Amino acid sequence: MVETARLAACVRAERDRAETLFETMRSLSFDGIGITRPAYSAAESRVHEALAHEARALGLEVTRDFAANTYMTRRGRDPLRPAILIGSHLDSVRQGGNFDGAAGVVGGLIALAALDAAGVRPDCDLTVMGVRAEESAWFNVSYIGSRAALGRLPAEALTARRVDTGRDLASHLAEAGGEPGRIAAGEAFLDPTRIRAFLELHIEQGPLLESEQIPVGIVTGIPGNFRHPDVRVRGEWGHVGLLRDWRRDALLAASEFALALDRLWSERQRPGREMAATIGRFGTDPALHALTKVPGEVAFSLDVRSCVADDLAELEGEVARLARDIAARRGVTFEFGPRTGVPPGPMDPEILGGFERCAVALGIRTRRLGSPASHDAAAFAAAGIPVGMLFTRNANGSHNPAEAMRMDDLLDATAILAGWIAEQAGR
Ligand code: GLV
Ligand code: MN
Ligand code: MN
Repeated sequence: MVETARLAACVRAERDRAETLFETMRSLSFDGIGITRPAYSAAESRVHEALAHEARALGLEVTRDFAANTYMTRRGRDPLRPAILIGSHLDSVRQGGNFDGAAGVVGGLIALAALDAAGVRPDCDLTVMGVRAEESAWFNVSYIGSRAALGRLPAEALTARRVDTGRDLASHLAEAGGEPGRIAAGEAFLDPTRIRAFLELHIEQGPLLESEQIPVGIVTGIPGNFRHPDVRVRGEWGHVGLLRDWRRDALLAASEFALALDRLWSERQRPGREMAATIGRFGTDPALHALTKVPGEVAFSLDVRSCVADDLAELEGEVARLARDIAARRGVTFEFGPRTGVPPGPMDPEILGGFERCAVALGIRTRRLGSPASHDAAAFAAAGIPVGMLFTRNANGSHNPAEAMRMDDLLDATAILAGWIAEQAGR
């Protein structure tokens, strides 16, 4: 078996390639302030093309599926052995950063380059997957590219409208070279029995690693969620002078709901059973609201998440109870509208342990931590595929232009990932 330290040196030798790839992606999707790569946009497609170009230069085989995901493969010695997939997404939120998602694809490519340089001949195919449309900010739907590849995206998702264009997923997908009909038919491009593991490398989107000055985190689980992209609270529009007892103020009802939700979160939060509740969009209609009107309608979005499926089910009941109680007291109605949800994504304990072994062998400090964010790896876990995830520390939060990643941390995390692959599939 190849010596882990020599493999890590080959990973470190990939620094320039990684820096150039991030620079290329930035130049292809810089919006003047941050990075904007909408799901199934021309900017996202350009970035897929740039990485495919680099993959071909590395001698990898490049293919695409009907959801327009990109696969970059080094063939293994035994074509019958299930493959190891390494991947993450290449879309970003509006005015986001250059690392959320993209770090996992660059990390995968340099891992494959380093394994090759170190003389590792894997016994199975190693495939880097550039995933489409992970950010639900665009279609209000989770894990579009990865679930479509696995044949697990519900057909109705194809009618979801992109928030900026108002056009549906099917038409955006077709424009990017995808085939929505095959997704609607539930066809699968990836067969879970042919995948030995899915590995994802990602920046941490919280402050833990940075605050403890630990370069790499080993992820213990990904939260599931239930979501309502368009909740409506309806009361009655009224005159600004209307007496208190006659008001049915939708804004106060919605605000009370927001604060009650926050209280619920603070009461229910437990170490090891983290959750989060977020109202990301909230407001009255600018075409109707005014200084001199009591607000008659408020729209907001709701995302509630937890790594424990039973907690999620319980929270859903409590959220509904909160709304019923406020509605009765304030004379308004809550319409939760369409609901989406995904289950939590558990990590494979053996992969977790394997990552830790490699980190110890390389002298890289790590800690275990739960993911606060959703990741494609959860879609693979839901399909029964063993999943492992690594985080790099990030000083500036995420979904903003300042999100941060140290190149040394990416190289450390990639060395752990490549070390695990060499241990499992190398010779
Ligand atoms: C998005 O990043 C999410 O965590 O759902
Ligand atoms: Mn994100
Ligand atoms: Mn991400």
